[in-house]
Amino acid sequence: MNPLNRRNFLKDTCKACLVGAVSISMIDFLESCSTVKTYKAAMNGNQVEVPLNLFDTAPLQVVSPKNYAYEIAVRKLPDNTYDALLLRCTHQHNPLTPTGNGYLCSVHGSQFDKDGNVKKGPASTHLLQLKTEVNQSNLIIHV
Ligand code: FES
Repeated sequence: MNPLNRRNFLKDTCKACLVGAVSISMIDFLESCSTVKTYKAAMNGNQVEVPLNLFDTAPLQVVSPKNYAYEIAVRKLPDNTYDALLLRCTHQHNPLTPTGNGYLCSVHGSQFDKDGNVKKGPASTHLLQLKTEVNQSNLIIHV
């Protein structure tokens, strides 16, 4: 193989590896989309109520408040506290899509992990964490 052909072979091989790695990374990120549940909830002022027994079936619930632009990812944590993240991209406020192991913005490709930390920009700040409180048999989320 002459040096010019060898250089082109290496260049083409590296491009193919890069495309393959990016594809595998996206597939991993999008895997298990179907396991995320969505619960439709009414808004009461700036509060959303979610029944606590909803978390008996799955610790992660995506709450979709009626007439509200964004969904909320709510998790029951091992210490029996709750974590609520507003699924609004911190780059330019696009609604996010749950992926099963994080959240994806379809506008410019930002990715967030399940805790709301930025995994990939252009977003640079953590998802907004909403205040929650337990009231008898419901979780109240303040939006
Ligand atoms: S609006 Fe989400 S990455 Fe730009």
